[in-house]
Amino acid sequence: MTDVAARLEELRERGLYRRLRLIEGPQGPRVLLSGREVLLLCSNDYLDLAGDPRVREAAAAAALRWGAGAGASRLISGNMRPHRELEARLAAFKGYERALLFGSGYLANIGAIAALTGPGEVVFSDELNHASIIDGCRLARAETVVYRHNDARHLESLLRGAAGTPSLIVTDGVFSMDGDVAPLAQLLELARRYGARLLVDEAHATGALGPGGRGAVAAAGLSGEVDVVVGTLGKALGSYGAYACANAETVEYLVNRARPFIFSTAPGPPALGAALAALDILEAEPERVERLAANARALREALAAEGLVATGSTTQIVPIEVGEAEPTMELCERALERGVFAQGIRPPTVPEGSSRLRFTVMATHEPDELRRAAHQVGEAAREIGLLKAPTIAA
Ligand SMILES: Cc1ncc(COP(=O)(O)O)c(C=O)c1O
Repeated sequence: MTDVAARLEELRERGLYRRLRLIEGPQGPRVLLSGREVLLLCSNDYLDLAGDPRVREAAAAAALRWGAGAGASRLISGNMRPHRELEARLAAFKGYERALLFGSGYLANIGAIAALTGPGEVVFSDELNHASIIDGCRLARAETVVYRHNDARHLESLLRGAAGTPSLIVTDGVFSMDGDVAPLAQLLELARRYGARLLVDEAHATGALGPGGRGAVAAAGLSGEVDVVVGTLGKALGSYGAYACANAETVEYLVNRARPFIFSTAPGPPALGAALAALDILEAEPERVERLAANARALREALAAEGLVATGSTTQIVPIEVGEAEPTMELCERALERGVFAQGIRPPTVPEGSSRLRFTVMATHEPDELRRAAHQVGEAAREIGLLKAPTIAA
């Protein structure tokens, strides 16, 4: 057996083996999964814009006008009008002087974090931050100090210990695997008091929280105050790519020092055209954001009625903690047999012993189908002994 085969075998034995599923059609609230229609409850296309005809048309029009690709990095010959236009729109949308596009949210996080900190400095990172933030901390080669999830008091005690050292506090705005929201006002207050910068990743907050879906930072009234706001075009904005918003000086610095920006091909015009159209729709139809929140509430309530309680979630991300990886995946498969496509999440995405079935709702789900889905998942959980009515052994 090769070492790779052995490592794969070990993953299988630990219930951590992952495989790709195939969607045979466009994205939407219901999708064709291996030839069968299922209710999609694990997409980040929260506002159902990836398949929106206006967004698709805009991507096609941008391809016809500007071409399929940018052909080079931005600092060589890949900087085109659609980049400039989208950056101006994103900066205005988020309430910042400037925005800078990246190839993806992963790249934006590693690029911004590693540019803004370095050896001899400290990054304070929430223990449940996304993998791209964790990897950004590693690449920065700064000392990484992890604080307890959403625990501002713990963070303060750690900041006190590092007083005088240049530092950056980094947090998800909406936590991707938990669906709760960071205490941004407290984090910013601490950042100011201890002379640190604050970076907030709005990957799951944009399109979901705040006025017109402007995000968690806007919801907290802190637009333009938080030093750096990162967001992705790949989730609620239905496209691909990402951005960092900051003051003009910081963005100019990222242009010069963020390695994924400097050393990678600029995002292609079709993705930019799609994101611009998605922003137009978001601004014209803010009710999508309200429908997303209402659907999230409906799903949480319907799951709770089955005894499946999503502790902590206040957003469109609704996780039901099971514990071990194997029963989590069993629940996932049984739900899928019933036409409900939610994702089982295991380590290393979440800590050991906290595997979960993670639901994400979309603005265009029907409340009734969400209630039916919750019931079906409840049945599946009872079938495999996870749920002893009326409450789950979480
Ligand atoms: C919190 C968070 N940040 C960043 C990312 C990465 O964004 P992208 O998918 O654009 O690379 C994700 C997506 O998985 C995420 O959940």
